[in-house]
Amino acid sequence: MLLSYQNTEGPLNRRIYIAMKVAIEAGRFGADSRLPSTRTLAADLKVSRNTVALAYEQLVAEGYIVARNRSMMRVSSAVAVTRRFKPIQLKRAKPKLSAQAGRVMEASALPPTSSFVTAPPPLHYDFRYGRPAISEFPHDIWRKLLAARLRQSSRGSLGYASPAGYGPLRQALSGYVSRARGISCNAEQIVIVNGSQQAFDLIARLLIDPGDKVVIEEPHYHGSRLTFEAAGAKLIGVPVDAEGLDTTRLPVTSAGVRLCCVSPSHQFPTGVVMPLARRLALLEWTCRAGAWVVEDDYVSEFRYEGQPIEALHALDRGDRTIYVGTFSKIMFPSLRLAYVVLPSALVEPFLALKWVTDRYTTMLGQEALTDLIASGHFERYLRRACTRNAKRRRTLIGALREHFGERVEIAGDNSGVHLLVWLNQIKPRDVEKIIARAARVGVGIYPITPYYSKPPDRAGLLLGYASLNEREIRAGIRRLADVL
Ligand SMILES: Cc1ncc(COP(=O)(O)O)c(C=O)c1O
Repeated sequence: MLLSYQNTEGPLNRRIYIAMKVAIEAGRFGADSRLPSTRTLAADLKVSRNTVALAYEQLVAEGYIVARNRSMMRVSSAVAVTRRFKPIQLKRAKPKLSAQAGRVMEASALPPTSSFVTAPPPLHYDFRYGRPAISEFPHDIWRKLLAARLRQSSRGSLGYASPAGYGPLRQALSGYVSRARGISCNAEQIVIVNGSQQAFDLIARLLIDPGDKVVIEEPHYHGSRLTFEAAGAKLIGVPVDAEGLDTTRLPVTSAGVRLCCVSPSHQFPTGVVMPLARRLALLEWTCRAGAWVVEDDYVSEFRYEGQPIEALHALDRGDRTIYVGTFSKIMFPSLRLAYVVLPSALVEPFLALKWVTDRYTTMLGQEALTDLIASGHFERYLRRACTRNAKRRRTLIGALREHFGERVEIAGDNSGVHLLVWLNQIKPRDVEKIIARAARVGVGIYPITPYYSKPPDRAGLLLGYASLNEREIRAGIRRLADVL
């Protein structure tokens, strides 16, 4: 029998198995037809009988052939059925998606590939928001902590773990949120998640049914909005002014709102801080409306004048606040570690959802992070990063003032890792042209429009500065001024 197996790679028996399978699928043997015995085929192919026997064994195991005995092999009758399939037609048909997948696709949830670190755009001065100063992170310490934990890994630490996350990390975080954010909670209320994004998604699954109303800030963080949209929420955008979400514009308490998502310590993207009176008004509204409030505290550690502002959670006497903290900005995004501080009544159902979704967050990073916090390195690094970011922020503001003067207006408080910059003499429709012109000279700048439900009537840019040093910031803005 002629069998072409010379062009494939791997052990001989596997190559013969593949060649036989291809021949069967192509219809060279009819269903039920008899195949050569192992002895005959081995002689034809000039290989050992054992090699052929191994190939036949695999075909039998997969159901392509049926063995009556060692020398009596027949092609399985099931082969005729597989031949009737028209895989090409199946491929072409548009798959029927769930309503949730449809909503996610409609919202264009996938980021452009240029936003991944694996495909950096060729920009010398990239003011992309969301990139921390990865090169200045204490990698040596981090590597040592990871290696030490890897060396210790025991059977216990390699098995399944609690959906709540690593106990000692939750314990360390309950101390940290108390010191840094004024939040008083016990470790049982803290759940470790894979980034804030998973926190928002689980919160949406926990509290929202299709058609439920959710209040979001306008403008807002699109990451959380997408999870609420995916859950089928009806979004109500409440405008943000110089004091954050305008609580006088919240829907009436009888409107049946389930959830309100805010970033009070550094509103995203405007950077404004919500003052005490508004915080209290928001909490009061939440209690009266029977709604929950999600506090997205993504970057509160970076406050450059005075102490970080206490979290909204710290003021909440009604146990209605779900606090979300992340390590993406203060360490690096690929760590995918964040945490949620939950009202006691929500802990158990949240854990059940986390367990159903992905069991629990991987352990190694959690263990090393516990050690980073316990050793004091974490908070020391935070202080250094804060000083460095403050300088970068001042440098960016200085460069913008020097080159653009009154032609730009800078929004936001003295904190965060980005600036919202309004371009006074530019029309909103010309922003894309300016971005393209800047990219041609190696400067990455980004529009503010994706963060608005309705595009604003002013031209605005969101400029991240944490990952550029002061020289790069000055050079980037000088270049930008040249092309504008
Ligand atoms: C407003 C806001 N919240 C949260 C996050 C953090 O997201 P994650 O923890 O999923 O990386 C970001 C990241 O860009 C953000 O801008």
